[in-house]
Amino acid sequence: MAVKKVVSTPKDIKKKAVAVKKVAVVKKVAVKKALPVVKKVVVKAAPVATTGVIERVTSGITDLDEVMEGGFEKKSAVLVSGGGGSGKTIFGMQFLMEGITKFNETGVYISFEENKAKFYKHMLRFGWDLTKLESEGRFVFIEYDPEEMVEIVESGGGAIGQELIQVNGKRIVIDSLSAYTVLFDREADQRRKLVDLFTMIESWDATTVVIAEENPSIEHFKSSIMGFMADAIIYLYNVIRENVMIRAIQIAKMRGTKHTQKIFPIMIGETGIKAYPTQDIFEYNFDKK
Ligand SMILES: Nc1ncnc2c1ncn2[C@@H]1O[C@H](COP(=O)(O)OP(=O)(O)O)[C@@H](O)[C@H]1O
Ligand SMILES: [Mg+2]
Repeated sequence: MAVKKVVSTPKDIKKKAVAVKKVAVVKKVAVKKALPVVKKVVVKAAPVATTGVIERVTSGITDLDEVMEGGFEKKSAVLVSGGGGSGKTIFGMQFLMEGITKFNETGVYISFEENKAKFYKHMLRFGWDLTKLESEGRFVFIEYDPEEMVEIVESGGGAIGQELIQVNGKRIVIDSLSAYTVLFDREADQRRKLVDLFTMIESWDATTVVIAEENPSIEHFKSSIMGFMADAIIYLYNVIRENVMIRAIQIAKMRGTKHTQKIFPIMIGETGIKAYPTQDIFEYNFDKK
């Protein structure tokens, strides 16, 4: 029986080359498709530059607003970073309570890790009755697995976007970014997913506080995609002085804002966080609080 030898003719080779080229072209198109994500981010500063007016959103901490020209920029993404127990969750919830109680703005808390019942119980300590506010449609608590969030972000954020429009959410908290990024092993993937997330946030008609469960390190954030993408960065510190833990806050970055350079004390009390911008953290007099 004659065996037919398979030989690649020059024609075959050319065909293959064309096929390979086609794949390359398809890949290029795929890369191109992903690009507008980055482009959109660059466009963001335009309205500020053309009007020269920056609308502000109060933070819920009056003394903090006073050292940042009245509040966060409306519709900006504010990164709040600090170690465990530094007050990030309370800060975020206080920001929502400010909108709910003073401006009748629906607050939305998107949580990847908190247990809702526990969360409501702890917040009640500050007089924030989330069960009641929820029943009145003024507060929404959304629990997502970080994996679900990845899916939503990958699909363009439509699911959350729709929900936010439905409830008319004007103030959003995402708690926390770290639960989201930890899903990606490779740094390149983390960066890409963070860009996607921030791009989604930017498309919302809301001001967003994004919580990062990380010890503040300016060097880290300066070089990180989070630090670059966020419009503002706030650090919460737990400083040890002798045998006392002192809480402090720093506005590390706030685009378009002349803000204090000082790191100053904060306290968590019966009504939430209070800030003391005129005090020095190491001279803070606890008896006077
Ligand atoms: N009712 C309260 N009064 C005073 N301090 C409180 C109260 N509830 C919690 N805290 C303080 O706040 C900390 C928790 O703040 P939280 O915002 O949950 O921190 P983070 O989200 O940064 O981990 C607790 O460790 C405690 O020190
Ligand atoms: Mg927390």
